[in-house]
Parts: sequence; C-alpha cells; structure tokens
Amino acid sequence: MLTIALAWMLPLVFHGAWRLALAQGAAAALWSGILRQPYWWTPIHLLFLPTAIALLTLQLPSWLYLLIVLLLALVFWGTVKGDVPLFLSSTAVADALTVIVDRENAGAFADLGAGVGSVAVPLAQRRALKVDAWEYAPLPWLIILWRCRKLPNATVKRASLWDCDLARYDVVFAFLSPAVMAKLGEKVRREMRPGSLFISSSFPIPDWQTESIVQIEDRRRTKLFCYRV
Ligand SMILES: C[S@@+](CC[C@H](N)C(=O)[O-])C[C@H]1O[C@@H](n2cnc3c(N)ncnc32)[C@H](O)[C@@H]1O
Repeated sequence: MLTIALAWMLPLVFHGAWRLALAQGAAAALWSGILRQPYWWTPIHLLFLPTAIALLTLQLPSWLYLLIVLLLALVFWGTVKGDVPLFLSSTAVADALTVIVDRENAGAFADLGAGVGSVAVPLAQRRALKVDAWEYAPLPWLIILWRCRKLPNATVKRASLWDCDLARYDVVFAFLSPAVMAKLGEKVRREMRPGSLFISSSFPIPDWQTESIVQIEDRRRTKLFCYRV
C-alpha cells in the first residue's frame, strides 16, 4: 500500500525522470528496511532506477545489454531459481585446507561447487592428492577446466553436486549457502564414510556438532566448520 501511495504521490511532488527515479529508489530502500530485508538490498533499491536512467543516457547499443545478461547467466547459472551464486574462497582458505588435507593424509578430495577453482586448483597442484571439482555453471566450469588442463590428478565434472557420490572421498569441501546446509548435511550423513571429514566454509550445518572450527585471517574472517563423520 505504501509503495502504491508513494508511486501516486511522488510524481506530484517531483518533476523530471531523475528526481522521480531518486524518489522511487528512496521509497524502495525505505520499504526494504521496513520489511527487514538484508542490509545489502538497500543500495540495490536505492540505485537501480537511477543507474538504469544513467545507462539510457549513454545510448549504448542494445546487443551490449544482451551480452551482459548472457554472460551473467553463464556465471550465475542456477541463481535465479535460488541456487548458490559464485563467490570465491581466499588464498588463505586454500592454504588452511592444504594443511588439513595433509594432516588427514587424504588421498581423495571433492570440492562441491568448485567455482573457478580457487580451492580445487591449489590443492590439485599438490600431486599426491586426487581432486574432483564439481561445478555446473558453464563459465566457471570452463575456467576451472582450463586451469586444471595440466593437472592429471584433477577431474572437473560439469554436474550437480547433488549427483556426487560422497563415499569416494576422504575430505569433502563446500562453500555454498545457509539455504542448502541442512539438505547437504543429510547427504553427508548418508554417503560419507565413517572417519572421513566434511568441511563447510562460512556456513555450519544446523544442529550438528563440529569437530573443530578453523578461523581464517582473511578479509571475510572466514570460518571453516569441520565435521568428522
Ligand atoms: C560460493 S561458490 C564457491 C566456489 C569455490 N568452491 C570456492 O570456494 O571458491 C559456489 C559455487 O557452487 C556452484 N553451485 C551451486 N549449486 C551447485 C550445484 N547444485 N551443483 C554444482 N555446482 C553448484 C556455483 O555455480 C558456484 O560456482
């Protein structure tokens, strides 16, 4: 109701596309705050329409927009239907995982949703370890495939992580989202061998007891939640 009222009233107060766009942005950001959306929605609401108008004034060719949409779709493949988007682990996370994998004396490692290989590639560069990288978004998959081209111990699979048989691995790593952790926990419980290790970056499995939590000193202050199966 508030949005409808603002949409009706604001044109009476503000004239011109720019002012109207700013007013719409402010109203949407306010509404977002009232609805308690996560804080990062505020700048998106605030800037969406002004940015659209600014881009229109640049008179860019229309195919450029199509190209950008296609590229984004190839990177953020399933995100529109609620799947996990691409964001990357830091070098410090890869270093910490190397230490853990060594300590575990692991022979086989899986990265579920491997992105562009920020974890899988440095780990596979240690030839003693067999690394399987599961990634279904086309562009990240192509990038990781290219990065692993000279690593015979790395296998890059363009498939859903839900089709991965976890029983094959000593250590399984995932950096996904809170939304999938309960379901992934069930899969880990069902499939992973007793004694193997599951590590989740940033997001714990609800109601599970960790064996340890590794605090990483990177920009995000990442936590690695380690679960002994
Ligand atoms: C947060 S990123 C993590 C990337 C990488 N593991 C890292 O730590 O840098 C999550 C990745 O999981 C991929 N992903 C999401 N759902 C997936 C699924 N069902 N099967 C395979 N990959 C998936 C996304 O495309 C994205 O690249």
